[in-house]
Amino acid sequence: MELWLLCWLVLSLVSHNITFQKGSGRCKMSNGRKPKPSDSRNCMEDVNNLLGNGKHSDSIEAVKALEEFLEKTEMSETNSMSVGHLVAVLHKQKGPFRGLKLSANDDEAKSDETVTNSKVSVRLPRELDIGSDNTVVFCMLTWPEANGIIWGNKDVLYESRLVGLSVGGKNISGLREYVNITWNLTVNETQEPRCVFFNFSTKEYSSEGCETVWERGQSDVTCSCNHLTYFGVLMVSPSSLSDVDLEVLSYITLIGCSLSLFTLVITVLLFITNRKARADVSMKVHINLVIALILLNLHFLPSQTVAALSSTGLCLYMALSLHYSLLATFSWMALEGFHLYLLLVRVFNIYVRRYLLKLSVVGWGIPAIVVALVVVIDRSAYGHVPLDFDNPNSTKICYIGNTTVKTVTTVGVFGLVFLFDVIMLGVTIRRVVSLHRIKEFGKSDRGRAKRDICTLLGVTTLLGITWGLVFFSFGYLTTPGLYLFCILNSLQGFFIFLWFVMSLRKTENPPAKTSSETRSTNS
Ligand SMILES: *[C@@H]1O[C@H](CO)[C@@H](O)[C@H](O)[C@H]1NC(C)=O
Ligand SMILES: *[C@@H]1O[C@H](CO)[C@@H](O)[C@H](O)[C@H]1NC(C)=O
Ligand SMILES: *[C@@H]1O[C@H](CO)[C@@H](O)[C@H](O)[C@H]1NC(C)=O
Repeated sequence: MELWLLCWLVLSLVSHNITFQKGSGRCKMSNGRKPKPSDSRNCMEDVNNLLGNGKHSDSIEAVKALEEFLEKTEMSETNSMSVGHLVAVLHKQKGPFRGLKLSANDDEAKSDETVTNSKVSVRLPRELDIGSDNTVVFCMLTWPEANGIIWGNKDVLYESRLVGLSVGGKNISGLREYVNITWNLTVNETQEPRCVFFNFSTKEYSSEGCETVWERGQSDVTCSCNHLTYFGVLMVSPSSLSDVDLEVLSYITLIGCSLSLFTLVITVLLFITNRKARADVSMKVHINLVIALILLNLHFLPSQTVAALSSTGLCLYMALSLHYSLLATFSWMALEGFHLYLLLVRVFNIYVRRYLLKLSVVGWGIPAIVVALVVVIDRSAYGHVPLDFDNPNSTKICYIGNTTVKTVTTVGVFGLVFLFDVIMLGVTIRRVVSLHRIKEFGKSDRGRAKRDICTLLGVTTLLGITWGLVFFSFGYLTTPGLYLFCILNSLQGFFIFLWFVMSLRKTENPPAKTSSETRSTNS
């Protein structure tokens, strides 16, 4: 009681809304006296006025307060009330509780019988076991037009209707037999209903603990929920991807990643069998990037299948590996840039001992540290993640589920690497341009410089486009975007293979020719 009053007090202090302060007057419970049904009606009238004119945040609090007020109403028998946008039943249980049926239309609500033209009907399970001293409160509100797009959600609340259910003096959650709320509705082709409840602490809709029982063509939807609160039906656009798109995409991905994997493995084989390539430091840097990409494809390919197996351990391993190989790809992308910089800008003045070892420690070590840190701090960050964020039932993969972790360690790192490479590229190009003016700088060196710049440019754009596409649109993928990503990603391994073969040829050919060849490769 005190808490409730305090709540009102704080609210009326915080609130700058005159209507609300006036409204709170008649919803205020006087100390020691339980409200009578006539008080409840007065409170409903105030809340109803507020719904029409008040601010959203006030309305939310008012609706919440109304529920508590109604729960406490003292009465000897069941009462039905209807005021403007609100209809309510305060059910008084007579005799043992065997479950309860409630139904309502826009003008009236009844318990234990069905109203004509019922919009919503509710079945409460026997499990609630309400005694004669408890009141079941059913309160349906239709949000007025002006307040229509309520409570920060892009999806539309069906008929702006919310149904509140509660039992006086009890917190009902974790029911074994679910509460069923059936809504009569018409659904158009492009939408589908999703049962939600309003979470008063986060001020957002949530579908946790609620199941939507509906099939296309059906004229009602049943929400089966394991707790009591304010429920509604959101009309959501089904996942922007049709089932056909999804199937085609998964085939493209399958074929593309396999092709990538295949060509990347060939690249490694070429490297191993070619003595000249093995001796070339740049080639060694390239091959590390190739290996990182192989790991990435290797773990991305079976991710969906593994996620479907619902083995937590295996999924954790897959998510970890996917994250690790992705970070390794990024770090080797950055090292390609760094290598190019050393090669062209600093090479004449500097000699780094155990150069490749140092690069490898950075390239393979830093991703390991990042992944290890995430595991130590919050292992639950990895797990089953729906591919389509808007639709929790969509296909899942094993990846990072925590948005913050994902943003920082993938999108963030990617951004840094991309920026780093762009800067390296800029510095290198400037150097080459200035070298042009120095006559004694060998023609072969210039050719080599151009070739390496093209390499970095190629790699950065390629990786940048594909991975940029997937990360900047992760969760909000449009269909064309997804197709583009899938196709580019499929070709990525193949491009790298081509580029590697070109580079191989260049290491073998006399250097004088390289300059012109690079130009033709690049065009
Ligand atoms: C709600 O529906 C489910 C099946 O969809 C059923 O098992 C359950 O008993 C129903 N609950 C009530 C209270 O009727
Ligand atoms: C119900 O839960 C709220 C917080 O969620 C708590 O403040 C209140 O005391 C609980 N009431 C009962 C009767 O358990
Ligand atoms: C509302 O959201 C909070 C925070 O996410 C959560 O702890 C709470 O369980 C949610 N309430 C219900 C009824 O699920």
